Amino acid sequence: MNIAVYPGSFDPITNGHLDIIRRAAKLYDKVVVGVLTNASKQPMFEKSQRADFIRRSTAALGNVEVAFFEGLLVDFLKKENAKVILKGLRATSDFEYEFQMALVNKQLCPDVETVFLSSSAKYTFLSSSVVREIGRLGGDISMFIPAEILDDVKTAMTAKK
Ligand code: PNS
Repeated sequence: MNIAVYPGSFDPITNGHLDIIRRAAKLYDKVVVGVLTNASKQPMFEKSQRADFIRRSTAALGNVEVAFFEGLLVDFLKKENAKVILKGLRATSDFEYEFQMALVNKQLCPDVETVFLSSSAKYTFLSSSVVREIGRLGGDISMFIPAEILDDVKTAMTAKK
């Protein structure tokens, strides 16, 4: 079985993430969305809430799973029996960091390949931090967030103001 891991903080999941997951679900037997739980930065949303938002946004996709991970990404891949790290590339600005990560992960685990999907043009500007910022400042996030979770993300953001 060809399994890809799509790692991230997903704080919260955006339409850009969902676009990558949908496209990857057509390429791989299974896509495991790995939710990072040990980031040094304090997330806006609890890990259980971030995972719940991803599950609900991807419910229509039969071969997508959500799991938590901490520590090294390559160790999580081993646990999930996966050989592919999936990343979305938005712009050249993502490239240097992602290229470095891909090389580090290759050093740590030569069996693992990092596969980049270019983001769809309409999402090249989009990131979770942009969504958090707009939400915090009272702007409209409806075009950035999956429809299934929009009301709950808005409510949670209002509660955090
Ligand atoms: O959504 P993010 O916060 O940009 O995702 C970053 C993530 C989770 C992909 C990255 O921080 C990561 O892979 N963390 C795990 C630690 C690790 O294995 N680092 C690579 C070796 S230094």
